[in-house]
Amino acid sequence: MVGRVPGQWFFYALCLILLPMGTEAADPEILKPRVPPGQIEQARSWKNPFPSTQDNIEKGKKLFYGKAFCVTCHGKDGKGLGNIPGLVGKLPRNFTDKSWQAARTDGELLWILKNGSRGTAMAPFIPRILTEDEAWQVILFVRSFGK
Ligand code: HEC
Repeated sequence: MVGRVPGQWFFYALCLILLPMGTEAADPEILKPRVPPGQIEQARSWKNPFPSTQDNIEKGKKLFYGKAFCVTCHGKDGKGLGNIPGLVGKLPRNFTDKSWQAARTDGELLWILKNGSRGTAMAPFIPRILTEDEAWQVILFVRSFGK
């Protein structure tokens, strides 16, 4: 028991050093807007017409795991594949990152679902895979990872 105490402190200290390396929050690249400057004001003005009810979140969840296959890149837990050591940053977004959630408006996320994120594996999903209404529901589900 006594011997474990210093071990614990060592563990905490190690976490303090390693945590910022292992989370995307430490990478300012993640927080940079994905919507081009010329379009961001307009994108931010788009409001989600669906209230964040359990029913609507559930609809988004079905799409995320189902026909929109978001899960294949963003993971079951919404953390993307970024929890693979050494590959952080190159992989899809960690939706549980609260600083990322706070940095984006719903409108910016809809813009991404319409246009994709240039130069990355994030492709446009509207209108081929999702209708705009479905995309708003998926966004409600994406938001639920940040809560
Ligand atoms: C083929 C892999 C892949 C699939 C499938 C995929 N994504 Fe992504 N997604 C990515 C990658 C990679 C990024 C990171 C892009 C970047 O850094 O700009 C990303 C980023 C995002 C972002 C964050 C953009 C931002 O502003 O930071 C959102 C939101 C998102 N995806 C939602 C979705 C949703 C919803 C689906 C399903 C409809 C989906 N993605 C399907 C790979 C994918």
